[in-house]
Amino acid sequence: VAMEHSPETATLTQADHQAKTQEVTILYGSETGNCQEVAEDLSGKLEGQPCNVTLASMLDFKPKNLKKADHIFVVVATHGEGDPPEPGLSFYETMNSRKAPKLDGVHFSVLSLGDLSYEYFCQAGKDIDQRLEELGGERLYPRVDCDVDFDEDAEGWIGGVLAELNKHAEEPATSGGSAMDAPLSQPAPAQTAYSRKNPFRAEVMENLNISGRGSNKENRHLELSLEDSNLEFEPGDSLGIFPENDPTLVDRLIEAMNWNPETTVTMNKKGETATLREALTSHFEITVLTKPLMQQAAELSSHEELKNLLADGNEDQLREYISGRDLLDLAQDFGPWETSAEAFIAILRKIPARLYSIANSYQANPDEVHLTIGTVRYETYGRARTGVCSGQCAERVEAGEQLPVYVHHNPNFKLPEDPQTPIIMIGPGTGVAPFRSFLEEREEIEAEGKTWLFFGEQHFTSDFLYQVDWQRWLKDGVLTRMDVAFSRDGEEKIYVQHRMHENAREFYQWLQEGAVLYVCGDEKHMASDVHDALATIIQQEGGLSEEEAAVYIEDMKMQKRYQRDVY
Ligand code: 2AM
Repeated sequence: VAMEHSPETATLTQADHQAKTQEVTILYGSETGNCQEVAEDLSGKLEGQPCNVTLASMLDFKPKNLKKADHIFVVVATHGEGDPPEPGLSFYETMNSRKAPKLDGVHFSVLSLGDLSYEYFCQAGKDIDQRLEELGGERLYPRVDCDVDFDEDAEGWIGGVLAELNKHAEEPATSGGSAMDAPLSQPAPAQTAYSRKNPFRAEVMENLNISGRGSNKENRHLELSLEDSNLEFEPGDSLGIFPENDPTLVDRLIEAMNWNPETTVTMNKKGETATLREALTSHFEITVLTKPLMQQAAELSSHEELKNLLADGNEDQLREYISGRDLLDLAQDFGPWETSAEAFIAILRKIPARLYSIANSYQANPDEVHLTIGTVRYETYGRARTGVCSGQCAERVEAGEQLPVYVHHNPNFKLPEDPQTPIIMIGPGTGVAPFRSFLEEREEIEAEGKTWLFFGEQHFTSDFLYQVDWQRWLKDGVLTRMDVAFSRDGEEKIYVQHRMHENAREFYQWLQEGAVLYVCGDEKHMASDVHDALATIIQQEGGLSEEEAAVYIEDMKMQKRYQRDVY
């Protein structure tokens, strides 16, 4: 169950009031909860130590409180073009302003989470690491930048940080008091429950295409069984699925590289082995090219053009090349290869799990998890391609099969604690999934707060996802209002934000009554257009200036009344 942290409730006082107790502040800035998971891990390993641990989200944390810390540990993700995650934005702003605290004598270390396929890899972490030093802090342990498969690196960082803390604990007291007197204990035992590192094999009960005839889309509704897993989830949480690569793509890649699919290969430092075909199907990512991957591949090839692509000054060509291409393109474009399969897979990343918003309520149906998965299909460079996981679900997953899954808690997308609080939900396309869970939960607990759903899709007849559910909830009063925008049924495009504008007065009224606003779905276009519509409505209906409306929205965020789950 996701924990909400406020600075007060998160202070794990270790009942140790000696004057020498060290203050440890662990801050996380997480969009999806991965950073929180690592931060909690570190905090757990400090339990029982003679130190006061404050574990907090950047969202709730005032930078001036950093002054009280002896040690600061930051775990932060990077978003988009090198930005910090949304809950960390205002923390970052203050840290980079003149209001930032002086941190002389404070020790710190940063763990950054990112994705090597992005240009500004781990930029937010790099920035905060530099900034903490500029403010006078002393780096206790070097920053570690993690790629999407962050587990091993994160564990390494935690181990390094703990070892440094221990060293400090053993040093004789200098000015300002000593560090901890007892050496730090071994890591806490792992939980027995299933997790990302130990996924549960969930049986697929249903797998249906819920887009009607004539639709441009294929949206699937999956129901998986969580029976006997003891996994729990809350509305707003997602399910991680470890997918398998398309077997045809795997075979073509093996063929292009002139390998034998049955060769046994070692997959990791632990020495686990598999056949090459198995390894490329279930363990490694073969659909994304990154710059470091290209650099390492170039070392395994004598192809002049590949070397050329990586030469100084050709960054633009490289960026263009890797975008939308996969390992089969690389294999075909720069062959013939003479490298062994094992040497080659050593440069690949582990295949990351895909997260999907859960579309049902645990309270209503604890043994089931429902997902809404839009099939991703497109063509680039003369080849039809599919999303790894959505393609697998559309083409290869049948009822009765099992998928490796885990529950991913999302503390930033949660129903208000008070069931009386009104909620507004904006979820075009598959973005509507979590709201099915919200409403099923509110029905189950007989919540009385008002609810308002905005849904958008292309066509009423083929794309009205879960139409029967919404209509039943409207009839029963679980759903108070619903506004739909079918973008391609009329002469002009109608989107959810147009419906917001049409109902601006009432929309603002709900906000004034304390409604929590949720937005889920496409980030690039929809979420930013909805944000603009929100700002305009607040200005217009509240008689506020642009700046005042921005403050209004900032306040909503601080009160957790504007929550987004966008992708
Ligand atoms: P379109 O496909 O006709 O452009 C779910 O994908 C729905 O979101 C579709 O109706 C889609 O319309 C619509 N949509 C596309 N861009 C959008 C945007 N910027 N804001 C809101 N909805 C958008």
